[in-house]
Amino acid sequence: MSYSVGVFVGSLAQDSINRKLAKALFKLAPDGMDLVDIPIGNLPLYNRDFDADFPPEGRAFKEAVAAVDALLFVTPEYNRSVPGVLKNAIDWGSRPWGSNSFAKKPSAVTGTSPGHISTAVAQQHLRSILSFVNSPELANPECYIHFTEGLIDDDGNVTVASTEEFLRGWLNEFHLFIAKVVGAQQITL
Ligand code: FNR
Repeated sequence: MSYSVGVFVGSLAQDSINRKLAKALFKLAPDGMDLVDIPIGNLPLYNRDFDADFPPEGRAFKEAVAAVDALLFVTPEYNRSVPGVLKNAIDWGSRPWGSNSFAKKPSAVTGTSPGHISTAVAQQHLRSILSFVNSPELANPECYIHFTEGLIDDDGNVTVASTEEFLRGWLNEFHLFIAKVVGAQQITL
């Protein structure tokens, strides 16, 4: 089966190592997994006054989320949590009340950092948020990438074979997970 997967990168930095990781995932995705970048940097800061009439950026974001089968988050860790820009995007997608765009869409989280525990704490915070917006999450394998100089080049080529193999395997597991979740949702009792 073929599935479209929206990719959210939690960094807007020009030389973002998480953008590099996302580029690598685009290259390593298996057949039947179509990755689509969903930009988050143009969204205004969410506040609930927008709920009455979403601006074009908010609508376009929700439409982009609605169009994909699954969600892939690639995020830095900021002060042991998710960057505000990513939380802002999730808040946009979750509203207005009653039209949560993330509901029932299977998700996976990853991220990279030069720190030795990588993005472990941010990923746990993100999992908590994704639970609340009712997204079934790939629990295991987890995917923490400790970034070292040159690990992934600007074009998304992974320079360490074992890391490339790990990422490929992780994407395969996510693909399988999406198929299971989407298949289960088609069952009627
Ligand atoms: C960081 N960084 C960081 N790293 C980490 O492992 N745990 C953390 O809690 C933080 N906190 C943090 C806060 C802020 C405001 C910044 C700017 C940075 C370092 C971070 O991992 C590093 O800058 C990465 O390069 C950020 O990812 P991108 O933007 O390059 O994708």
